[in-house]
Amino acid sequence: MEKPQPMALGGGVPQSPRRCHYPAMAGSGRLVLRALAGPAWVRGSDPGVLSRLRDEAVVRPGFLSAAEEETLSRELEPELRRRRYEYDHWDAAIHGFRETEKSRWSEASRAILQRVRAAAFGPDQALLSPVHVLDLEPRGYIKPHVDSVKFCGATIAGLSLLSPSVMRLVHAQEPREWLELLLEPGSLYILRGSARYDFSHEILRDEESFFGEQRVPRGRRISVICRSLPEEVGPGRPGQPPTAC
Ligand code: OGA
Ligand code: MN
Repeated sequence: MEKPQPMALGGGVPQSPRRCHYPAMAGSGRLVLRALAGPAWVRGSDPGVLSRLRDEAVVRPGFLSAAEEETLSRELEPELRRRRYEYDHWDAAIHGFRETEKSRWSEASRAILQRVRAAAFGPDQALLSPVHVLDLEPRGYIKPHVDSVKFCGATIAGLSLLSPSVMRLVHAQEPREWLELLLEPGSLYILRGSARYDFSHEILRDEESFFGEQRVPRGRRISVICRSLPEEVGPGRPGQPPTAC
């Protein structure tokens, strides 16, 4: 797919000539541009998409402290190291990865996952158990896909560890509508509602890893992903495992 042309920062915003003469106004002008363009870690095809998805594709940079990042990666490393990176068929969604479904966590990690739960999910949302841990090698990437509605409900929340990466969302019916999320190590992203159902998401491979003009070199990246359960198999159905996060 051809990369959509990014929206020029502040495109369409009338430039007041007075801004040149009044430094205070120049400052507030920048604030207006930032509000229209979205936060510095989210870019979009147009202001309409940015504002529509403001609460549905969310990035919280620095969600984890350095100590919390360390806690998670130390705990995950031995389990991941036992597995081999997989290079699947051409049509598989994920390339150069190893993964695990983890249900038993240290107390420190449980506290972190509890924070994710509180930040991303409503009190009535039951979570898929166990938590999905995905380790992408530096050449690894995730092709555009929509998570299966059979296994995943309305909300997906992911912590990123080790390497920065770019997640791109593209509307399934209107491919001109897109968002890019800059996922720094220690950040949390949340996809819900339309961003989760109507847009595909992908993690760009190293060669294509740009956030706008900004090159985002890819190294090894680990993500820790919590998902809500589909509504119809949520609370009330017998035999459901307890929530994980
Ligand atoms: C997935 C996925 C994103 C990530 O496993 O379905 O989209 O952050 N992962 O690793
Ligand atoms: Mn996915």
